[in-house]
Amino acid sequence: MINYKRLEKDFINLSKFSKTKKCGITRYSYTCEDLMAKQYLIDEMKKIGLSIEIDNVGNIRGRMEGIEKNLLPIISGSHIDSVRNGGQYDGVLGVLGALEVARTIKENNIKQKRNFDILIFSEEEGSNFGLNLIGSKNIIKRFKNKELKTIFSENAKSMYEMIKYSEEKLKIEHSSEFYKAGFDTMVELHIEQGNFLEKNDKQIGIVEGIFGLRWFKVTIEGEANHAGATPMKFRKDPLVEASKIIYEIPNIVCDIDKINFVATVGQLSVIPNNINVIPDKVDFIIDVRSIDIKNIDTFYRELLLKIDKLNDRRYKAKVEELTRTDAKLFNKEVIDLLSKVAKTEKINYLKMYSGANHDTSVMSEIGKGIMIFVPSINGRSHCPEEETKKSDVEAGVNFLYKTLITLINK
Ligand code: HGY
Ligand code: MN
Ligand code: MN
Repeated sequence: MINYKRLEKDFINLSKFSKTKKCGITRYSYTCEDLMAKQYLIDEMKKIGLSIEIDNVGNIRGRMEGIEKNLLPIISGSHIDSVRNGGQYDGVLGVLGALEVARTIKENNIKQKRNFDILIFSEEEGSNFGLNLIGSKNIIKRFKNKELKTIFSENAKSMYEMIKYSEEKLKIEHSSEFYKAGFDTMVELHIEQGNFLEKNDKQIGIVEGIFGLRWFKVTIEGEANHAGATPMKFRKDPLVEASKIIYEIPNIVCDIDKINFVATVGQLSVIPNNINVIPDKVDFIIDVRSIDIKNIDTFYRELLLKIDKLNDRRYKAKVEELTRTDAKLFNKEVIDLLSKVAKTEKINYLKMYSGANHDTSVMSEIGKGIMIFVPSINGRSHCPEEETKKSDVEAGVNFLYKTLITLINK
């Protein structure tokens, strides 16, 4: 089985690479802390003889050669970039779990038919540029590289220059395309980031599908004016109108589907954002997700009706779709294989959907994908309180190990 002490040391070492020291993990792709974390992982993979390659958006692949190179490879991995003030498990568990599995295969001389690849995806969260899952979308050729020079981070650096900087620092073999012929199966170990496993007192989740996602940016322009001298009836205040729409969102969602449908506004900007100025312009982004894409379409139509009414009242309002990932139902044969391994290992598991988006949902366009979840304490994630019990981390990585050696020799 895996060496938990060694894995725990990796978590401690990787958590040091964060911009925030006292309030969770902040590690945006292509920043110094991201590069130091990537360099640490590259060094650890090189220690066990993996061949390392990087692609043009900074995805890193460590390959453990199998005997039958003509067979499609097995992949495991995740992301190490974070949200601002995030937790130390989101993404990192999947990367360190795959690394620990590779070490365990090596030191136990486990027979290995297929190539086994560890993948570290870049820009999964979208924290830098407001576009998520860039790394996996690039691998499946769903990300237009000509955009690299036209996408800018919040500190006005283009994606192109940030990647160039990181490539120069990492100095590893460049690969134009990781999976020309696709791959056999990708298994991503991840924290659940919700409370379903905890509420059902289960240690492992076998993920059958992932919610589809859309990010809608709503912009409302009103009329900037003096906060003191402008009577209420003469105002065109975009922040008041934005608040009315945001207040309505939970009702719209619950009227459509109370279980497998969620919507969130986590980011809002006010211009000019002064205490004594009626705002001129407001924009906010709605993160909308469901296992059934028709729910998202219904939500979008309701939103458009509200925007039209605002325009009738001489505001200037619009909605733009920033990004989308389709809902994904994973391959039944792979779900059954993992259920069989779980039963053999007497694991306390259940099958479930994921509300959170993951690279595996994108990658499963060119190969079979599946995910393994472990519980998040109090269902918390994307915050410094994100935590998972040591025993659950160990059980998750051991289940990942058993699953991968089964797939590698299939
Ligand atoms: O937003 C998500 O679903 C993931 O944590 N990137
Ligand atoms: Mn996340
Ligand atoms: Mn994640």
